[in-house]
Amino acid sequence: MHVIILGSAAGGGVPQWNCGCPNCTAARRDRRSRTQSSVAVSADGQRWVLLNASPDLRTQLAQNRALWPRGARGSPVEAVVLTDGEIDHTLGLLLLRESAVRLPVYAPAGVTALLADEWPLYRVLSAYSGVEPRALEEGQPAALTDRAGVPLGLCCAATAVARRPPRYAHGTPAGTFDVGLRIEDEQSGGVLAYVPTAGTVDDAVRRTAREADLLLFDGTFWSDDELRAAGAEAPTAREMGHLPVGGPGGSLALLPGIGAKQTVLVHINNTNPILAPGSPERAQVEAAGIVVGEDSMEFEL
Ligand code: MLT
Ligand code: MN
Ligand code: ZN
Repeated sequence: MHVIILGSAAGGGVPQWNCGCPNCTAARRDRRSRTQSSVAVSADGQRWVLLNASPDLRTQLAQNRALWPRGARGSPVEAVVLTDGEIDHTLGLLLLRESAVRLPVYAPAGVTALLADEWPLYRVLSAYSGVEPRALEEGQPAALTDRAGVPLGLCCAATAVARRPPRYAHGTPAGTFDVGLRIEDEQSGGVLAYVPTAGTVDDAVRRTAREADLLLFDGTFWSDDELRAAGAEAPTAREMGHLPVGGPGGSLALLPGIGAKQTVLVHINNTNPILAPGSPERAQVEAAGIVVGEDSMEFEL
């Protein structure tokens, strides 16, 4: 399985348009940026699946050669899998509206309900290329298929992770809002565990990550009060459903025991000090054998 981290940042990206924190300031000065959260996977290197659809999808598709059109028109993107209904994981669907065919979008039931109603992407897109909603049912691993229904050689299992619904969701339809994915290459046996948002390391996360060749895990915040310390009116990391990386009970203490062969942090917020090379927090992550994800990082599983 080929895996590309398309975007390693959390919502807002780096730099975030209205943020003057040290990381955003350095990113503007050095013209280095990180795009918002998304991953691409493929078994055959020809047909690709996006894991979440980032607001920066246009840039991401342009920057990664594997995702360029093969001919005069068309795209190797065959399907999208959504882990949640957050804006930073779904807005990119709007950017695919020029598609000639309906785009298959796998999502948990709660997310499909949100995108048909409170965040009405599917309704809006129906006037353009449209999407073909496909169910991602918990406890029922699915063989992902391309636009024509041909198997992609990837089996995807979704497990609900502990998190609240998105902030815009008021009607709270029934169903799961947030899942971790365990994707297995049916030929190589390689396993990717993708958990970009997690409020805790519990049995659901452990089941998703067990013996995975690669775990891509929620690296949003270093500390619980990070956003407030950066001057933003905001809830804590835990209130937002993101387990902090540092501190007592943080993911840095828990992830090394989880059984994944390699762990890389993704969905990293611009305020997170692990983004600063040379910071003590970055050194702690590296000392634990965990990698700070970067845009365009590639893996073969
Ligand atoms: C999250 O990951 O908690 C959300 O994407 C936050 C947001 O609204 O940007
Ligand atoms: Mn997010
Ligand atoms: Zn910032």
